[in-house]
Amino acid sequence: MLRSQIEELEREAHAAIEASRSSSELEQLRVAYLGRNGKLTQILRSLGQIPAEQRKDVGFEANRAKGRLEALFESTLAAMLEAERRQQRQRDRLDLTLPGRRPPRGAVHPLTRVHDEIVAIFGGLGFSVAEGPEIETDFYNFEALNIPKDHPARDMQDTFYLSEDTLLRTHTSPVQIRTMRAAGGRTPVKIIVPGRVFRRDVPDASHSPVFHQVEGLAVDRAITMGDLKGTLELFAREMFGPKSRIRFRPSFFPFTEPSAEVDVLCFMCGGAGCRACKDGWLEILGSGMVHPRVLRNGGYDPEEVTGWAFGMGIDRIAMLKYGVDDLRLFFENDLRFLRQFA
Ligand code: DAH
Repeated sequence: MLRSQIEELEREAHAAIEASRSSSELEQLRVAYLGRNGKLTQILRSLGQIPAEQRKDVGFEANRAKGRLEALFESTLAAMLEAERRQQRQRDRLDLTLPGRRPPRGAVHPLTRVHDEIVAIFGGLGFSVAEGPEIETDFYNFEALNIPKDHPARDMQDTFYLSEDTLLRTHTSPVQIRTMRAAGGRTPVKIIVPGRVFRRDVPDASHSPVFHQVEGLAVDRAITMGDLKGTLELFAREMFGPKSRIRFRPSFFPFTEPSAEVDVLCFMCGGAGCRACKDGWLEILGSGMVHPRVLRNGGYDPEEVTGWAFGMGIDRIAMLKYGVDDLRLFFENDLRFLRQFA
């Protein structure tokens, strides 16, 4: 009776071991059969209750069954652990031959690129970068630059006023005055001033209420318009290519005398005339000899020193250089546009 129970139990355990699918499941089975309250353990424990003449044989069988099951558990567990370790290694495997994942990389904005180039070119000529506030006073933005109230030149630059006396600077020229005053009469002064400027313009392909300029200013003893011209010629060749040529056209600015607008030979048609330039030349900046009154407002004696200055639009230079026909593209930040500069 007990003997067949043992056989039945062993078969059952055998089948269960065979069917088990993990080492933890196997451990549960081991406890269920061979643990302190396991099924086979209980049978062994009940041996004392059977007639003495059967006890030895049945006991012998029960212990053999226990031994076989223990061995089977052990070997199955070993095989299972090995298989599980193998699976784990497979999951954790690092394939060093796989190509890496590239982090997405941006492109320098075209305005930043032109800005950096301008700073580098003039940096090479000994100009350092100066900055000034975007919120300016009427005095620095106009008055000190020889643009008095009611001067018609104020109409050229439609201004965002913040109060009677403060405004968003309409150009980078006020930094001329700030820098000269900070220099306290020392020479030479050689600065460029990149920065944002603001005008009340309705946005279109060539107007934006915020845009970018670079001012240049040199003040020293006996510097001339020839120095200005040489400097700008070199700038044009660095910026637009070695074949670049420039021309000066007489013009008017209240803060320079004489004044000139500077054009570069159109690098699209080579000067023959095309849709971009019309007459073969592209206007790139305004310039001139610093007006004596402006030098005086900066704390210099115009009998002792001379100066020249220029102002150019970074946005305009970028449009020319990259053949961009709509200024708004620089500010919309459409990735399809920006990616072309990667
Ligand atoms: N400030 C002028 C503008 O915004 C540009 C300019 C012209 C600057 C001549 C200068 C200069 O320094 O000499 O239109």
